[in-house]
Parts: sequence; structure tokens; C-alpha cells
Amino acid sequence: MAAHSESATAQRKDAHLDLCATAEVEPEINSTLFDDLRLAHCAMPEIATDDIDLGMELFGRRLRYPLVITGMTGGTERAGEINRQLAALAEHFGVAFGVGSQRAMHEMPSRTASYQVRDAAPTTVLIGNIGLVQARGIGVDGVRRLMDAIGADAMAVHLNPGQELVQPEGDRDFRGGYRIIEALARALGTRLLVKETGCGIGPDVARRLVECGVSHIDVSGLGGTSWIRVEQLRARNAHAAIGQAFAGWGIPTAAAIAAVRRALGDSPTLIASGGLRTGLDLGKALALGADFAGVALPLFRALESSGPAGAHEAMEVLLGGLVRVFLLCGCRNVTELRARPRLITGELKEWLAMF
Ligand SMILES: Cc1cc2nc3c(=O)[nH]c(=O)nc-3n(C[C@H](O)[C@H](O)[C@H](O)COP(=O)(O)O)c2cc1C
Repeated sequence: MAAHSESATAQRKDAHLDLCATAEVEPEINSTLFDDLRLAHCAMPEIATDDIDLGMELFGRRLRYPLVITGMTGGTERAGEINRQLAALAEHFGVAFGVGSQRAMHEMPSRTASYQVRDAAPTTVLIGNIGLVQARGIGVDGVRRLMDAIGADAMAVHLNPGQELVQPEGDRDFRGGYRIIEALARALGTRLLVKETGCGIGPDVARRLVECGVSHIDVSGLGGTSWIRVEQLRARNAHAAIGQAFAGWGIPTAAAIAAVRRALGDSPTLIASGGLRTGLDLGKALALGADFAGVALPLFRALESSGPAGAHEAMEVLLGGLVRVFLLCGCRNVTELRARPRLITGELKEWLAMF
């Protein structure tokens, strides 16, 4: 039984990678709602690109850019190679890197090496990863062991009830979540990150997480990779139909970030992932209140289709675009960008009126 479920986890991860590499895993009906935000142009910026300082500290390390390559994979040889290449990319650009769920490593310790990328990223932020339901199963000590085994600076606990509910073999019992988060926050302190996986964390959940002692949240909202869609594409019959119906479920990334920041003030540290595809998206996420932007699918796809050089180029385009947002707004740093006049229209305005 154990052997079956162990190989099932690794097989599922490979199937996920295949789907994410080529299939339509970003349903067109979904939007981050960044299009509903306009930042005021500044025709006379009176600054040089050299004046723009986007450096930030995260989990005790200094980053050159406020960007996290969010957790994707691990557990197979192929996944290990992806982790190694993306970690090296993160090190080169001075951004943070997260490995994917370490569940496969917990089930099969022989897979540990596929998550061990510290040698490829010796100085930048490295983040471990485990699902909430698995964290509840293995407890605080188990989670800490996963983090320490890869020399991570912090541990991300991911929330994915939408995905689980579409997986035929997925979890159906989400009770006790806040209890394990509270225990983890007590044990790991500021080294704990709680993230969604593309359906968004709203102000109600964020507030309770902060009350549990959580200091870092990645809202990971709707508008990019949809795990409900990924599972729909893997599923047959009833689960495929359920996935089809729910592929647009979630809180758009722009709405999640603005609402959580407004509800909770300066703390916690916020990461915004979920559908950020251009440097302009990154800049808008920061303007709405994120401390860091997060990107997953585009860098994985660039690596799959064009190798490390392609991923390098994709990163240059993203970060180059981000710097240009600051230049065109005449802003030297994130504090100045947040103070810039902006226009919020359409559905984003309606979401913010609701929260
Ligand atoms: C191939 C792939 C695998 C992923 N696996 C994980 C995972 O194991 N753990 C996790 O927390 N998030 C996982 N995610 C979710 C991302 O970290 C991110 O929250 C989400 O995809 C939204 O970002 P994006 O639209 O830029 O892809 C994965 C995403 C992709 C594309």
C-alpha cells in the first residue's frame, strides 16, 4: 500500500509537469484583474535606472529584486534538474527560489537530492514546501526536518483545497488547518510562509493566519496556472466535469493583494503570485501592496522549451519590464510607487468594494 502511494505521488508530479509544459492550464476566462489597474505615467521622471533600488530582505537574506520563483517541483530526476536550473537562475538574478512539494521526499527519502539545490543557489533565499494536509500528518518536527534537509531559509505550507476536491484521490478533510499552522508558526517563527496555489487568499483567511502568528503570506490568486484545470485535464468522467465547472473559481490576484494589504496594514510580508506574466504585472502587484512578486509557470515553460538560456531571457524580460515601470512612474523604490496616483476600474473595483 505504502509503495503504491509513494510511486503514485511521483507519477502524479510527472503528469503535472507534462500538462503544465504544454496544455491549456491557464483558462482564458480567468483574469488577475491587473488590467483594471492603471498607474499614472510620468513624462518627466528625473531619475536614471541606476537610481532605482528594488533590493529587499526576505527570510534574512538580501535580494536584488523583489521576486520569488515560487515552488513547483521535486521528487524525480527530471524535477531535480528543473529545480537545479531554476535555483541557479534565482542565484544569478538575486531573487528567491522555492522548491515544490516535498511530499515525495517525505514518502521516499531517496528522492531528497532532487530538492537539494543549495550548491546551485548558495547565497539567495531558498524556500521548502509542503501541503497543509501533509503538514498536519507529519507534524511540526516532520516539517522542520524537511526544511533542514535541504538547507532552506523558510518553509512554505501550501493551501490547495480546490485542487484536492477535483482530484479523485484528493483530500476531503481540511479540519484542523489553523491548529497546525499555529503550531508551525510557534516553532518556525518568521521562517513560515503560507501560500495558496492559484485560487487566492482573501482578507478573512489572511487575518486568521496572522492571528495564528503567520508573518509571510503568498496570496497566489486566480488568473494564472489553475490547478483545478490541471486536475480536470488529468481526470475522467465526473471529476473532469467538476473541474470544468470550477476552473474559474478563486479570488483574482490583484483583488487578493489589494484587499489583504488594506485589511492588515503593513504586516504581514506579502508575496503576490498567480498569473503575473510581464514586468508591468510585477510592478502593479507591488503598487497594490505586495512586498514581492511571485512567478511560476512562465519560467518553467521557458526552461522546458528553450533551456536555461530561454529561462534566463524570460527573467531578463520580466525584470527589465519591472524596472521600466518604476522609471515611467518616476519612482526610485516601492514606497514611492505605492504613493503614485492610480486608477482602479471594473471588476477589481467591485471586488474591493465587496471585501
Ligand atoms: C508546474 C507547477 C508545479 C507547481 N507545484 C507546486 C507545489 O508543489 N507546491 C506549491 O506550493 N505550489 C505549486 N505550484 C503553484 C505555484 O507555486 C504558484 O502558486 C501558482 O502556479 C501561481 O503562479 P503562476 O500563475 O505564475 O504559475 C506549481 C505551479 C506549477 C506551474
